[in-house]
Amino acid sequence: MTDKKKVAEIAPAKGKLGVLLVGLGAVSTTFIAGVEAIKRGLAEPIGSLTQMSTIRLGKRTDNRSPLIKDFVPLASLEDIVFGAWDIFPDSAYDAAMTAGVLEKELLAQLKPQLQKIKPMKAVFDQHYVKRLNGTNVKEGKNNMELAEQLIAEIAEWKRKNKCARLVMVWAASTEIFMKTHAVHKTLKSFEQAMRDNHKAIAPSMVYAYAALKSGIPFANGAPNLTVDVPALLELALQNGVPVCGKDFKTGQTWMKTILAPGLKARMLGLNGWYSTNILGNRDGEVLDDPESFKTKEESKLSVLEYILQPEVYPSLYKDFSHVVRINYYPPRGDNKEGWDNIDIFGWLGYPMQIKIDFLCRDSILAAPLVLDLALFLDLAQRVGMKGIQEWLSFYFKSPMTAPNLYPEHDIFIQLMKLKNTLRHLRGEDLITHLGLEYYD
Ligand SMILES: NC(=O)c1ccc[n+]([C@@H]2O[C@H](COP(=O)([O-])OP(=O)(O)OC[C@H]3O[C@@H](n4cnc5c(N)ncnc54)[C@H](O)[C@@H]3O)[C@@H](O)[C@H]2O)c1
Repeated sequence: MTDKKKVAEIAPAKGKLGVLLVGLGAVSTTFIAGVEAIKRGLAEPIGSLTQMSTIRLGKRTDNRSPLIKDFVPLASLEDIVFGAWDIFPDSAYDAAMTAGVLEKELLAQLKPQLQKIKPMKAVFDQHYVKRLNGTNVKEGKNNMELAEQLIAEIAEWKRKNKCARLVMVWAASTEIFMKTHAVHKTLKSFEQAMRDNHKAIAPSMVYAYAALKSGIPFANGAPNLTVDVPALLELALQNGVPVCGKDFKTGQTWMKTILAPGLKARMLGLNGWYSTNILGNRDGEVLDDPESFKTKEESKLSVLEYILQPEVYPSLYKDFSHVVRINYYPPRGDNKEGWDNIDIFGWLGYPMQIKIDFLCRDSILAAPLVLDLALFLDLAQRVGMKGIQEWLSFYFKSPMTAPNLYPEHDIFIQLMKLKNTLRHLRGEDLITHLGLEYYD
């Protein structure tokens, strides 16, 4: 018998879990429709760790590999209720039809449920998303007043929908590139900046503030700064709320964080990595604006540097060229095509090339991540975990970390970290893969 560690106390997942989505676009509607389809037995939750993945416990010879959802108490899909905000008033059904990700036949079967989900009025300012303009928008004299409207609206929504707990996920458009500003330093200066309508407070921050003030966990699916500022992290700790972000790791970057650790594992060098995409959905249109693209570009560029560690391996990875492009190309809709040309070198410096042509579906890849994040954040909240949830780095292109800590991008390390966190919560031995005991 191995010594069992202390088991964390986890409040049971009793009652309904409200998942509040900021943005009711392609990702959100594909997520909602998917959960509704799965609940009706029309589909399987493919791509979701919380629903499909097992977790090995103990020794390899123990044969203990329960499903994650049986190992930790997660909310069941039956208990999820959806709420959303958007600048367009379309219901989830109409928005899903516009997004064009899912087949009309499937949406028709889910129409009654999807039609009931009508977006609440958004906090929006076109300064932060240049390519969009909608009418379903809140009015208020400053950002603090808008946050107060959100807080009251959330409380009312929770009551009306008889939810026991809530989580919030940002799945709205990518805002313009912003850096941490002096007003983000403390909660006090942040709140003053909200009252002053300071430009350093983006709409996404108003939602995050309202969530944290209401004690609601917050995940950021886009690369915007949003909750990744000291003031809001201070609020998260103060109110005991877990947060995570940024930018769902779905297509090209997911691929990068699989391949780059492989190159490094074999000590193969890299001269350059050229990535380009064609994308025709609304996200592609928003990212066609240079200021929104800059936010995305920063997020996509950082992964290789961190994984390959050029400062540790200068002869292999110093000064490689890394280019990322996104081209808005309407005919493709949500069906993105991502090309990668990777110039590598091996023994005696001989060059080789790897080409990837990934014909993916953006929202099909993103939807299960939204589900997992909602369920894991709710779990974290019930365990009493607060602030940045680094164990959820697995889901993000730019994982949030403690100050002065570099993010872990290698997807295999991220997965190990996630599963070891779950083992830790349940007092199970962490898996180190040392395995000497099998040969004693
Ligand atoms: N699909 C993916 O693979 C993927 C991966 C990583 C990140 N993301 C990010 O997820 C987000 C959603 O992607 P999508 O494909 O669903 O985009 P989308 O354009 O279909 O949906 C975004 C929705 O957000 C709404 N919106 C914009 N600003 C808002 C605000 N302030 N308040 C409320 N609603 C607002 C828009 O009207 C739109 O309906 C984007 O930021 C995208 O960059 C997507």
